[in-house]
Amino acid sequence: MVDGADAAGWSEVAAGWSALWGSFAAPAQDKLIARCGIGSGTRVLDVGCGSGEFLARLRAIGAEPVGADPAPAMAAAASVHAPVVEADAEHLPFDAGRFDVVTAVNALQFADDTVGALREFARVVVPGGRIGIANWAEAARSDIDVIERAVAEALDEEQHPDGPLRPAGGIEDTMMDAGLEVVASGIVATPWRAGDDTTLVRGILLGEDAATLTELHGVVVAAAAPFRGADGGYVLRNHFRWAVAVTD
Ligand SMILES: C[S@@+](CC[C@H](N)C(=O)[O-])C[C@H]1O[C@@H](n2cnc3c(N)ncnc32)[C@H](O)[C@@H]1O
Repeated sequence: MVDGADAAGWSEVAAGWSALWGSFAAPAQDKLIARCGIGSGTRVLDVGCGSGEFLARLRAIGAEPVGADPAPAMAAAASVHAPVVEADAEHLPFDAGRFDVVTAVNALQFADDTVGALREFARVVVPGGRIGIANWAEAARSDIDVIERAVAEALDEEQHPDGPLRPAGGIEDTMMDAGLEVVASGIVATPWRAGDDTTLVRGILLGEDAATLTELHGVVVAAAAPFRGADGGYVLRNHFRWAVAVTD
């Protein structure tokens, strides 16, 4: 999987991200839509919008979405669905109070300063506006961890430890550090599906070159065996945690 905050790296995988991962966080998006009160006419900024699948969903329910992402190819892909600016979470090129809601799905962890980013989100929402964050839960709550551990072992690498946003209470603590009042939070299943071995390996090793895909194909397929169905496809039962805060 892609890891890190490198905008050029995210640009390189924009098409693959959209095809393989762009929609799997929809159950977490649903929580943010409901608990941020997003509906017809709601002005929503989605930070780290990636290839824009959430923007498309927001538009479909009548909201007025805008995207922000520092990776040019991600921003270009997303701009099919809504206006998108190339910007990172800590430096949003918008006036104070421009939006009713700011969301970030699987993106806040890439900010150098997550508390600073949340303060920036609070700046661009109206007083009493909502901020909705969703992120991978701790590794132990997701099947993908089994496969990533096998890959790390094959490469003789240390697996990345869980970041501070991932465990229970992690998003809420960061929101409170930013001076926000948390009004709702929870955990939601975000299963990821791959129809065959090739799709599985491409998804797990997104961003790796062809030689690495070939080298690690057997490792990934063997590690994913517990998650393979009778049809030869895979379902990884992963989870996201989410939280919603309100500004003063
Ligand atoms: C894992 S993708 C998630 C994309 C989308 N939110 C989704 O759920 O499909 C992470 C996105 O965060 C963006 N990103 C990286 N660093 C960022 C930063 N400092 N601020 C905002 N977004 C960032 C990447 O360019 C990438 O598009």
